[in-house]
Amino acid sequence: MKIGILISGRGSNMVAIVEAIQSGSIPDSEVVAVISDKTSAEGLIRAKERRIETLVITRKGRTREEHDAEFVIELKKRDVELVCLAGYMRLLSSDFIRAFPNRITNIHPSLLPSFKGLDAQRQAIEYGVKVSGCTVHFVDEDLDHGAIVAQKTVEVFDNDTTETLSARILEHEHALYIEALTRIVKRNFEIVGRKVIFR
Ligand code: GRF
Repeated sequence: MKIGILISGRGSNMVAIVEAIQSGSIPDSEVVAVISDKTSAEGLIRAKERRIETLVITRKGRTREEHDAEFVIELKKRDVELVCLAGYMRLLSSDFIRAFPNRITNIHPSLLPSFKGLDAQRQAIEYGVKVSGCTVHFVDEDLDHGAIVAQKTVEVFDNDTTETLSARILEHEHALYIEALTRIVKRNFEIVGRKVIFR
């Protein structure tokens, strides 16, 4: 399966995916491009070091639709079948989502539907939950809302700060995204309502 990964920053989930594909633990797949909306994204260097093609598509004062259209063109040009968001910090337009129906995944650092949006780990600490975690889900038109592919719980300790909890969740994010993609690339699942059912 040809995969395109979208990033805006550090790119640690992107690296985990690339390395899992290059080592064969995610089978029969290839990362054909890593695309960032930010020139300064650290992940771009990490992708290049792993011999993955990188592109930067900045918004440059355009509308979201115009910006996204350029992403879709570049992804389609490379026959991308699955788009993985990995710390991509923009909402996708309807046109983008419709161009890849049930073929866009995201990772979010909470157990959805709790703590959507920015600063999910801070939200979890402020709410006082005893467990949080991470979620891989398909992307639909609502924020952090699409059908859930996989989740992992992570304990929250009394002395956790946003930084310590984020770091603990991040380790599990990498493993969870790999596990989810390993299942998705086998193509043996269906989406029934909100449920992703693997056969
Ligand atoms: C991760 O916590 C991910 O869940 C969230 O953004 C962060 C990206 O980190 N969507 P990285 O760029 O993959 O290191």
